[in-house]
Amino acid sequence: MSSNLKSVQKPDINKKRSNVLKEKSQDQGINLNEVSKTYYLGSIVVKALESVSVTIPKNKFVIILGPSGSGKTTLLNVIGALDVASDGNVNVLNKEITNFSRKQLSKFRRQHLGFIFQFFNLIPSLTALENVEFALQIQGKKKTELIAQNALKSVGLKERMGHFPSEMSGGEQQRVAIARALAKSPEILLADEPTGELDYETGIKILELLRNVVTNGKTVLMVTHNAEIAKIADVIIRLRSGKIIETQINENPINPMDLKW
Ligand SMILES: Nc1ncnc2c1ncn2[C@@H]1O[C@H](COP(=O)(O)OP(=O)(O)O)[C@@H](O)[C@H]1O
Ligand SMILES: [Mg+2]
Repeated sequence: MSSNLKSVQKPDINKKRSNVLKEKSQDQGINLNEVSKTYYLGSIVVKALESVSVTIPKNKFVIILGPSGSGKTTLLNVIGALDVASDGNVNVLNKEITNFSRKQLSKFRRQHLGFIFQFFNLIPSLTALENVEFALQIQGKKKTELIAQNALKSVGLKERMGHFPSEMSGGEQQRVAIARALAKSPEILLADEPTGELDYETGIKILELLRNVVTNGKTVLMVTHNAEIAKIADVIIRLRSGKIIETQINENPINPMDLKW
């Protein structure tokens, strides 16, 4: 019960502590060892990732930066259990997911990860609220309405909950997608070019929301081809032709509001 005293001050830390009981070393976020991904298109061999090794601690804003075709999405998908590596080891949240079956990968995604994509991927026939609720229901969550409402409020969409995607701007739709990802409170939020379809100001708002996620104790892994955006990250992984050319720790990430691009 003494831990209750601590939890009054720092509930997040306390929550992490309770996880330690279940998982031995809780510090590890993501660890890739010599990961390769090869696609075969008929006789053409595409090496999307080649011997990628990297360790990413928890509770960081991590950006994967690289030109188009450098393997960013592939890397995100391998870490996000959406795709499997051809070679090497993938460890996420202390789980060796390398040899997980399809079913295990799906369960792992559902339990631990949240996704935001460039094109929002909302269900057009459901309102904002229903989109977020639906994602929770798939997880088997109860009382989805309240959780969904709170998630939508947290991204500034209190007034738009009953609207359909077609009635919202791109930025609002992306915020619904973020609320949907946040509602399940994932340990790692993976975002593939989430500002790619948005105007500058809306993009900044989205990046501020993502920074907030990290401030609240989670890990964000975001893909971009925009070197300017990378300045807001704590860790920048630079990819070129399927290889990591640099992993940079950024001691002074800038505020998304101060970005210019
Ligand atoms: N499903 C796939 N089948 C075949 N080739 C693919 C597939 N997905 C990606 N690739 C290829 O792998 C390389 C890396 O792609 P990708 O990870 O999408 O790069 P990025 O996100 O940096 O633009 C590219 O050459 C791409 O054409
Ligand atoms: Mg991509």
